Amino acid sequence: MPFATLREVLAEAEKGKYAVGAFNTNNMEIVQAIIEAAQEERAPVILQASQGALKYAGIRYITAIVRAAVESSTIPVVLHLDHGTSFEQTMLCIRHGFTSVMFDGSKYSLEDNIAATARVVEVARAVGVSVEGELGKIGGTEDDISVDERDALFTDPAQARRFVEESGVDALAVAIGTAHGPYKGEPKLDFDRLEAIMKVAGTPLVLHGASGVPAGSIRRAISIGISKINIDTDLRQAFIRGVQHVVHNQPHEYDPRKLLGPAKEEMKAVIKEKMRLFGCSGQA
Ligand code: G3H
Ligand code: 13P
Ligand code: ZN
Repeated sequence: MPFATLREVLAEAEKGKYAVGAFNTNNMEIVQAIIEAAQEERAPVILQASQGALKYAGIRYITAIVRAAVESSTIPVVLHLDHGTSFEQTMLCIRHGFTSVMFDGSKYSLEDNIAATARVVEVARAVGVSVEGELGKIGGTEDDISVDERDALFTDPAQARRFVEESGVDALAVAIGTAHGPYKGEPKLDFDRLEAIMKVAGTPLVLHGASGVPAGSIRRAISIGISKINIDTDLRQAFIRGVQHVVHNQPHEYDPRKLLGPAKEEMKAVIKEKMRLFGCSGQA
């Protein structure tokens, strides 16, 4: 099946009231785990590579591995750049066959974020590639933030409307209390804010930092309108769990395949569980 765009899979998700899982990849085993899980679950899926992933593996390797995995699949697969921060990088990804790019201009002022994101949208739209933007700052879990800071960092609904209208993005990443990496306590999501953003945004909304967010909060976020959910940390932890299990039980094992195979299976189990939670299982 040819690659799908983010716009296409999120339009279906909005109609069906489910969310599509977006899983970060850095190597062959992660790509295989994501595609095999999606195929077995019959779920549309978003494979995403960060700038760090592209630096680690190389854009040619990532795209070649993803193409090889997708060749025999029969589900919609989106190849997406996660947290792109330069115009050049987004263009390079488009040139290499990505069907969706995120331009993360969250470190800029509203005006500069709109201008930089709109520049990416103009080119991407011309060649049928989707664009995700970000408004508000999605922190790391190490950031301790006060109530005042929440207001400054979280996505402002009125600004969200303006951002979407003026930038033309196909999806918007919102800051409502999630963070990247493992959580220290239980994350508290600002659902009232999410509802207010949903009412005015006019585009599918994206939840970043979803690893470690309790199932109940994920379900509630989807019921309000989140339609793309990003997972990286839970996969990293599953990978390491798989490796550690073998190292612990068979300390003399010297065949890398005997470590990476179980790591892949651990990730597959996590991905399938997420797909069922997100409601995208059985939708492809
Ligand atoms: O949002 C961040 C993703 O987890 C990717 O992380 O930049 O370390 O690859 P990374
Ligand atoms: P987690 O690593 O917290 O799952 O966040 C993933 C993410 O948002 C990627 O953009
Ligand atoms: Zn993110």
